[in-house]
Amino acid sequence: MKPRLLITRQIFDQVLERLAPHFDIESNQTDAEWSRGELLARVADKEALFVVTSDKVDVELLQAAPRLRIVATGSVGFNHIDLQACSARGIAVTNTPDVLNEATADMAWALLMAAARRVCESEHWLRAGHWKRWAFDQFLGADLWRSTLGIVGMGRIGSAIARRARGFEMKVLYCNRSAAPSEQALGAERVSLDTLLAQSDHVLLVVPYSPATHHLIGERELALMQPHATLVNIARGGVVDDAALIRALRAGRPAAAGLDVFENEPALNPGLLELSNVALTPHIGSATRSSRVGMAMLAAENLLAFAANQPLPTQVGR
Ligand code: DGY
Repeated sequence: MKPRLLITRQIFDQVLERLAPHFDIESNQTDAEWSRGELLARVADKEALFVVTSDKVDVELLQAAPRLRIVATGSVGFNHIDLQACSARGIAVTNTPDVLNEATADMAWALLMAAARRVCESEHWLRAGHWKRWAFDQFLGADLWRSTLGIVGMGRIGSAIARRARGFEMKVLYCNRSAAPSEQALGAERVSLDTLLAQSDHVLLVVPYSPATHHLIGERELALMQPHATLVNIARGGVVDDAALIRALRAGRPAAAGLDVFENEPALNPGLLELSNVALTPHIGSATRSSRVGMAMLAAENLLAFAANQPLPTQVGR
């Protein structure tokens, strides 16, 4: 008998086709997210579960899933999964590293440039019919070329971002628990978080979310940033204290922000929507076709390895 697999989202046809011969699949075929109650009911008889970042895999879900043996998340981040509880039950957890590095690094740059050069703000103004004349001081933004970029979290995505900074002849500062192996090749200098915030013209957040990084950037840290600086968060909601950021952006320090992730997403702090100096995107950092297919396929490869009783390619928390 094939193991039973629950997939909480619509996924790409080629990924379903790859899984279908090996699993008895129940998947969400709608655009709507299953309610928590529905998810718990559907997982009750499953051996395998394919989730995304908004599906909380916690003790309650595990209790509702007595047969569960593997949780594959279609994301590199796994802060939505209680690893300890899974490991206590002998449930394997897998994620999707690397396949999204370059797409996510591109998106960090897209948000940085949009925020620093006021792309979204000026576009909204133009669409609203306000453009009557050209002026020297219209929508003055911040320079990227030869500015200082601060990267908080120099892992695989942080390094991909830093590589792109060379084309802009930027000075690159970074802050990490340990020195990045790529430090020399990237021409990057490791400094403390406070130094990075104080000396950077643009700050990019790429750290995973954990209790240790909860509100890593709050009121005190925002006050250290330069008035003309830009803050970009493509890491996780909760790394930034959104309420503190709203107050800081209202006061104009930092000058602008680009946010792809939010506390309590998809709900947004309404204060963000009132600000013109913030560029907002709906958690699409990895959203290119090749990257998202790569993520779904890697999750599938882990599930297939499980079905074949083979080592899992990208298991976490072993
Ligand atoms: C990830 O892979 O963690 C991204 O945030 C997409 O969910």
